[in-house]
Amino acid sequence: MSKSLNFLLPGLGGAGLACGLAVASMYHNSGEARIALLEERLAQVEGHETSARKLAKEEAARATSLEAKVQEVQAAAAERIATGVNLTAPAPVPDGTLGIGRVAQAEEIAAWDVDVLPDGRGLPQGTGNAFDGEEIFADRCASCHGDFAEGVDNWPVLAGGFDTLGDKDPVKTVGSYWPHLSTVYDYVYRSMPFGEAGTLTPDETYAIVAYILYSNDLIDDEFELTHENLGAFEMHNKDGFIVDDRIAREHSAWRAAPCMENCKEETRVTMRSVFLVGTPPEGGTESVMNTATAEGLPSFTAEGPSFIPAAAPKAEEDAQAAPAPEEDQAADEGTQLAAAGEKVFRKCKACHEVGAGAKNKSGPQLNGLLGRTMGAVDGFAYSKAFQAAFEEGRIWDEDALAAFLAKPKGFMKGTKMLFSGLRKEADVTAITEYLKTATE
Ligand code: HEC
Ligand code: HEC
Repeated sequence: MSKSLNFLLPGLGGAGLACGLAVASMYHNSGEARIALLEERLAQVEGHETSARKLAKEEAARATSLEAKVQEVQAAAAERIATGVNLTAPAPVPDGTLGIGRVAQAEEIAAWDVDVLPDGRGLPQGTGNAFDGEEIFADRCASCHGDFAEGVDNWPVLAGGFDTLGDKDPVKTVGSYWPHLSTVYDYVYRSMPFGEAGTLTPDETYAIVAYILYSNDLIDDEFELTHENLGAFEMHNKDGFIVDDRIAREHSAWRAAPCMENCKEETRVTMRSVFLVGTPPEGGTESVMNTATAEGLPSFTAEGPSFIPAAAPKAEEDAQAAPAPEEDQAADEGTQLAAAGEKVFRKCKACHEVGAGAKNKSGPQLNGLLGRTMGAVDGFAYSKAFQAAFEEGRIWDEDALAAFLAKPKGFMKGTKMLFSGLRKEADVTAITEYLKTATE
């Protein structure tokens, strides 16, 4: 750059001057002004030249210093090679290890070694029963999974769902679905309570697992679950899983050329996952079931409008709370019982509503229950068992209700009410009294 400028400038200046003189001889008056202008330009060009030289000098200095740095690094490397320092991977120390870290201690390995195999191998020593488990479960698990493992809102349900696995909407729970009890122990011990994993002791975990079994009617409350009998425990769905042998049995069929004859002309989307509303965007317990169904939806194609139904508004908390019994009745013994019953009814609220405007949730509304025909609420999809009871015209009276609430599945075999029952007779009496007050 600076070189070519050097070479060019005198030529340019000379040509400019020669040109200026020629013009001066022709137009004497304007000639002087032209010369002044050309001289000014010449000065400008000289100025540019100076700054270009300065820049070039700076660049050259930078190049020199970089060059020096490279030499420095090369020299250092050469020196390390010369003094025998290994520039590649650390050499294995003679025992064959990499010579870093230390051997993990037995306690450290044990702390990570929590997996449990189906036959019970890996279980820590311990014992627990459903009776103790109920209390721990209420404390640590019920806020999400419900007092009876029935699941609050959309948190996982852990109990019931037996004989639904073949249905369109199977209820897959620990009781109905899980083939090995070891998984329950392992999963709970390893990862629950959600957000507080690793805080349960082995005995607490045995007790909780026993309680989950109890909630599933798989044991009675005296059963003592231990590291010795857990592996041998037979789950309801133990034979429900098969070894995946599709590679051997079906793979060849998949590889055949696809049949492209007689194809449907039009494909239509008939359902979107939003109808099955799962977890609400904001999470937690405010979730609502979406009441929209596929029927009556606009049909839409890939180009057509997207149709996303709004979730049903959540029923007002107030509508769930029954009218305060004190207002309806005199302050007698019945009132007190009903008040106690209202508290017990909290166990039912996840699934049932009562009072003005009560709607069906996952269970039917329970207004005016006593004297009502079983399975009679319009628009509620009862199990076959309750449908049969309705056909027979069976009526809810206090005895029937007491028997049902004490052991739902005992009273009504095949009911889909995922509730293991009220253990205390006093609770049954109280809730019956409360339900008497629950009307439209
Ligand atoms: C804060 C809410 C919360 C608490 C408290 C909680 N869980 Fe869970 N639990 C969850 C969630 C969420 C899942 C699903 C996790 C997943 O699928 O990754 C789950 C899954 C489970 C499952 C597996 C269910 C299935 O079918 O896949 C079991 C069993 C379980 N929890 C047991 C417990 C036990 C026992 C406790 C108490 C010691 C407990 N949980 C406490 C939220 C909770
Ligand atoms: C996990 C949800 C759930 C819980 C908790 C629950 N129920 Fe139910 N309940 C249901 C379902 C579902 C049905 C319908 C049963 C069927 O069709 O087999 C039902 C049915 C009933 C019926 C029969 C209604 C009729 O129309 O014949 C009564 C009575 C009842 N429940 C009372 C209660 C009471 C009282 C509690 C609390 C102590 C309770 N339930 C707890 C889900 C629940």
